[in-house]
Amino acid sequence: MDPVSRRDFLKYAAAATVSGGLAVACSSSTPQPRFITPSDPEIAARDRAPASSAAVVPMALSARPVTVDLGGVVANTWAFGTTAVGPEIRLKAGERLRAEVANDLPVGTTIHWHGIAIRNDMDGVPVLTQPPISPGQTFVYEAVMPDPGTYWYHSHSGLQLDRGLSGPLIIEDPNESLHYDHEWTVFLKDWMDGVTGTPDDVFRELTAGMGGMSGMPGMPAPRYMLTDGESALLGGDAGDVKYPYYLVNGRIPADPPQFAAKPGDRARLRIVNAGADTAFRLALGGHELTVTHTDGYPIEPVRADALLLGMGERYDALVTLKDGVFPIVASAEGKNGRALAIVRTGPGELPPVDVPVAELDGRIPMAWDMSAMEADRLPPRDITRALDVRLTGSMSPYTWSIDGVPFDPNSVESNRYGVRSGERVRISWRNDTDMWHPMHLHGHTFELSESGARKDTVIVLPRTTIATHFDADNPGVWAFHCHNSFHQDSGMMGSVSYEI
Ligand code: C2O
Ligand code: CU
Repeated sequence: MDPVSRRDFLKYAAAATVSGGLAVACSSSTPQPRFITPSDPEIAARDRAPASSAAVVPMALSARPVTVDLGGVVANTWAFGTTAVGPEIRLKAGERLRAEVANDLPVGTTIHWHGIAIRNDMDGVPVLTQPPISPGQTFVYEAVMPDPGTYWYHSHSGLQLDRGLSGPLIIEDPNESLHYDHEWTVFLKDWMDGVTGTPDDVFRELTAGMGGMSGMPGMPAPRYMLTDGESALLGGDAGDVKYPYYLVNGRIPADPPQFAAKPGDRARLRIVNAGADTAFRLALGGHELTVTHTDGYPIEPVRADALLLGMGERYDALVTLKDGVFPIVASAEGKNGRALAIVRTGPGELPPVDVPVAELDGRIPMAWDMSAMEADRLPPRDITRALDVRLTGSMSPYTWSIDGVPFDPNSVESNRYGVRSGERVRISWRNDTDMWHPMHLHGHTFELSESGARKDTVIVLPRTTIATHFDADNPGVWAFHCHNSFHQDSGMMGSVSYEI
C-alpha cells in the first residue's frame, strides 16, 4: 500500500520547501516560534458565542475505587459508577456539556472527550492542557459539543483507561437523516483489571524485558504478555497483552447484554472500541451491516459482513433485523477470546458463547475503502504545512516513541509539531515498526487522503505510511498518540501545537 499519491507528493514537496525555509530562519537570529497556551483568550472565545444560547446539560462523574460485577465475575477496579463502563452521556450537537468530575482515586486524573473538536482547555490531557485533578479535588469540564456523532470519554492519565474509567459520549444530530427504530451502543473493552492484575503490573512486565527472555530455557512464561497473537488484517502482531475477558457494555459473554426488537426493525449500532490493547472484529450473526459513519462522520454507505476496529475507533452501522436470536460477536483480533451481545426479535435459546459466526470471515471494509459524504469532505486546497510523524520503537526493549524520542509527560515541548491557524495540514504517519498503531489526533477530525473518510483515529499498518489532512481551525496544544495504552504510556505521543 502506498497512500502517498503523485499529486500529493508534489504538494508535499512544495510545502517542504516552505517549512525548510522556516527551519533555517529559526536557527539564525529570528526567535523560535511561540505557541498558544490553553489559557489564552482565543481558546475560551471558541465557544463563547454559542454559550449564551446553548442549552447546558449538567452531569456529575466521580472516579473512584469500586468493585464491579462483569456478569458473575467481580473485579476491583477504578470506575465512574458501579459498573465497568461509565454512564452514557447524550447531548444534541450545539449543546453545552457541564461535567463535574470528582477525583476520589488515590492518584491524579483527567478526562478526555475523544473525537470532540472541543475547546483546548477542556481537552483533559495532563500537562498539555491542564494539571491533573488531585485526589479529593473536583474539576468542571464545560464546553459546547459542536458536531454530532459517536464519541467516548476516558481518563487520560497513565494507564487508567485500561481500568473502568471510560464511557460512551453520543452527540445526537438535531437534523438526523437516517431512519431507524432502535439505537444501540456497543461499547467494547478488553478487561484484566482486578482479575489477573492491574494495568501497571502488565506494564512492569512488558518493560522488564520478558519479551527477550520468554523463549529462553528456564524462563517462566510471561503472565501478561501476548506471545502468539497474529493478524493478517493488522499485518503481524495483533497486540502485546493477553486479557482474560472481553466485554460488551461491561459484560462478559457468559452473561451478555441483550437488545430487544421486532423482526423487520432497523437498528443503528454505535460501535466503540474502548480497548487498551485489542482490535475487535465485529459481526452480527446472520446479518449484513450497512456502515454509515467513521469516527462520528457520515460516509457513503458501505456494505459489510464484519468491521475491524482499532482502539479508539468507532463505526456506526444500520441493520435490518431478522426473526430470531442472534449473536453480536466482537472477536479479539489475533487473540483468543471474544465479546458477546445478543439481539433478540423472537423467542429462543441464547446461542452458546462460542457460536460460529460466518460473517466474521466475510467482507471487512477498512476506513481507507470508505469515503465521506460530499458535505463532509474537506474542500480541495493546497497543503501549507506538511508534518512527517515517524512511529518508532520495539517490543524488546519495550519502548515506543515518535521519531525515536519517547514523549516526556512532564514537558509541553516534548515531540512538539507546530502549525498555524488557517493552514491545511498534512500529517504523514510513517510506521517504521513491525507493529500496527491506531494513531489518534485530538481536537480535529482528519481526512484520509486516499478515500476522504473522516477520522480522528487511524490504523497505521507496519512499515507503511498513511497521509491524513485537516484544517487548522481549533487553536491549542493538541495531543496525538498511539491509542494502544501501553505504547502511549511508553512514549508514542507528541503534540500538534498552534504557533502565534
Ligand atoms: Cu482517546 Cu488521547 O485519547
Ligand atoms: Cu502503538
